[in-house]
Amino acid sequence: MSREIGIDLGTTNVLIHLRGQGIVLDEPSVVAVDVLTQEVIAIGQEAYEMMGRTASSIEVIYPLEEGVISNYELAEAMLILFLKKIHAESWFRKPNILICVPTNTSEVEQQALLDTTRQVFKGRVYIEEEPKIAGVGAGVDLTDPKGHMVIDIGGGTTDVAVLSGNEIVNSASIKFAGNEIDELIIQYFRTHHQMLIGKRSVEKIKIQLATAVELSNHDLDTHSVRGRDLISGLPASINVNSNQLLEAYVDELAVIARTVKQVLENTSPELSGDIMEEGILLTGGGAMIQHMDDYLSGYLGVHVITADNPLNRVAVGTGIMLEAILDGTFDQEELLLSQRIRRWFRQIRIKLFG
Ligand SMILES: Nc1ncnc2c1ncn2[C@@H]1O[C@H](COP(=O)(O)OP(=O)(O)OP(=O)(O)O)[C@@H](O)[C@H]1O
Ligand SMILES: [Mg+2]
Repeated sequence: MSREIGIDLGTTNVLIHLRGQGIVLDEPSVVAVDVLTQEVIAIGQEAYEMMGRTASSIEVIYPLEEGVISNYELAEAMLILFLKKIHAESWFRKPNILICVPTNTSEVEQQALLDTTRQVFKGRVYIEEEPKIAGVGAGVDLTDPKGHMVIDIGGGTTDVAVLSGNEIVNSASIKFAGNEIDELIIQYFRTHHQMLIGKRSVEKIKIQLATAVELSNHDLDTHSVRGRDLISGLPASINVNSNQLLEAYVDELAVIARTVKQVLENTSPELSGDIMEEGILLTGGGAMIQHMDDYLSGYLGVHVITADNPLNRVAVGTGIMLEAILDGTFDQEELLLSQRIRRWFRQIRIKLFG
């Protein structure tokens, strides 16, 4: 039985990858808590199903939001419970664990996660940031000094990174991603149709219909969405098509495209040349929006390629990265040191230039 466990601790979904077995767990990053006792009563899919359907004594919480850990205790509890769900402590004596954390997780939180996971599972635990792992999962070879660019559109953040060798040489992270699209769709129905739609229904309609470019009548899909009429207060349903939905978030798609453009503009000519030649890799759930790659390719003038199974790339990347760390290809101490130096420069830059 494999002892190598890779975890994509995402804002919206947690995936666990086992060496030799692939992805063994894929559940929403949600926790249901009893408000009175503060006890965790459900995690993952079970907690997600409770959203909007529970008594007021039960709160359903996403412990990670917008690329940060917003509720550290719950995030930690959720991680440990997911690992226990795959029986990590009984099957694997001293497992090797790599956790991919959201981009803006603080160093203190990373250290706390490392310490707790080490204490519970008694194995070696490593932490890495998302854009690099997404690249590795999408096929980037980190021993290759050539420039590669990855765009990961997740639930909480869109991360754009230029990778060269084992380094992130240039990157940006913005809070415009899947959750924000859901919020904009909720607002759209509220203002244009006086309807209140629940988060799960919105996510469902987005998955069915969302497009990044306007579709011709021939390709246009229509679905009905259910919610509550704000005027009558009664249940209601309405038909909506892909182009109508696009209206809700079209302006914000341009924010993603502009961010990628800025990162490209700040990339050295040599690395830009490599990216131009190879194309840009697109990962994360947002890559599943129809024609997202075409939209970005059109804006940037660089070929954008959607990775196979874009939702799984980070989890697969944790498996590959963990093997590389364990066989000595990458020295994790150095990785952490280089991360620290990068952060230090970033902080100084922010202090000096805002
Ligand atoms: N077919 C689809 N079309 C559009 N959006 C989708 C589709 N499938 C999933 N999504 C969206 O992708 C997002 C989840 O993507 P992903 O699992 O990559 O995020 P995450 O890793 O949890 O978040 P982050 O990387 O920001 O921490 C959700 O907002 C979800 O609604
Ligand atoms: Mg992610």
